[in-house]
Amino acid sequence: MDRIKTGIPGLDELVQGGIPEGSSVLLSGGSGTGKTIFAMQYIYQGAKEFEDPGLFVTLEGNLKNITWNMQNFNWDIKSLQDKNLIKIYRLNLDSMRHQRSVDEQIDKELEIISQMVQEIGAKRLVVDTTSAFGVWVREEGALRGILYRFTNALKDLDCTTVLTSETMGGKMQFSAFGVEEFVADGVIALYFTPPHRSVFVRKMRGTNHSKTVHPFDISDAGIKISSKDEIMWEAIK
Ligand SMILES: Nc1ncnc2c1ncn2[C@@H]1O[C@H](COP(=O)(O)OP(=O)(O)O)[C@@H](O)[C@H]1O
Ligand SMILES: [Mg+2]
Repeated sequence: MDRIKTGIPGLDELVQGGIPEGSSVLLSGGSGTGKTIFAMQYIYQGAKEFEDPGLFVTLEGNLKNITWNMQNFNWDIKSLQDKNLIKIYRLNLDSMRHQRSVDEQIDKELEIISQMVQEIGAKRLVVDTTSAFGVWVREEGALRGILYRFTNALKDLDCTTVLTSETMGGKMQFSAFGVEEFVADGVIALYFTPPHRSVFVRKMRGTNHSKTVHPFDISDAGIKISSKDEIMWEAIK
């Protein structure tokens, strides 16, 4: 089986060398646990180390914030964007309020994403964050349907995908709406129990993986996981 090396220090060791190619991985965690940084680093390392083109779809903030966030890490995103190895797209929820039915608008966005993936030949795809759909569609049944359709459709693209989901922070809650973890082939959970950050691979279809919790740090170089160190499950709050 082919694997995608994330390039995030310490992570690939936890999943026997990399994420199974073509899988769809849910990255879950409470606010401020490092999901956006992790997702950016996945795209950045892929482009820089492996020349894998990557598409970063953001549903929150604005493009300025994203660039600013990456500059924070001294990652030279600009030159990789110029080489078409990184593309950033803001899925525009605001304009989707009007006129067309929600389903049609989702189809339109999926079409745009699919086109961008083809344009740069993306091997890596990020959607940050699926939880934003909750702001946009209020009725729970409709929301679940849309989320299911959206995340499922992304699986047809020829990419290895990371979807982030913002939880309330409970250690056994892996997605905001329950749908995301159901669709995903893998689930990686990030925790922040001040002052300690930790990561846990909850599931990864098609490969063996670490069953313990590992500490990680965020610094100017981004995320670094100490794959050889372990944290007790009981220590996570
Ligand atoms: N340069 C840095 N060095 C150390 N920690 C940082 C740095 N930049 C951001 N952080 C930490 O990362 C957190 C934000 O992570 P982020 O990925 O945006 O979280 P999430 O997307 O899960 O809400 C900040 O609250 C801060 O604690
Ligand atoms: Mg975020």
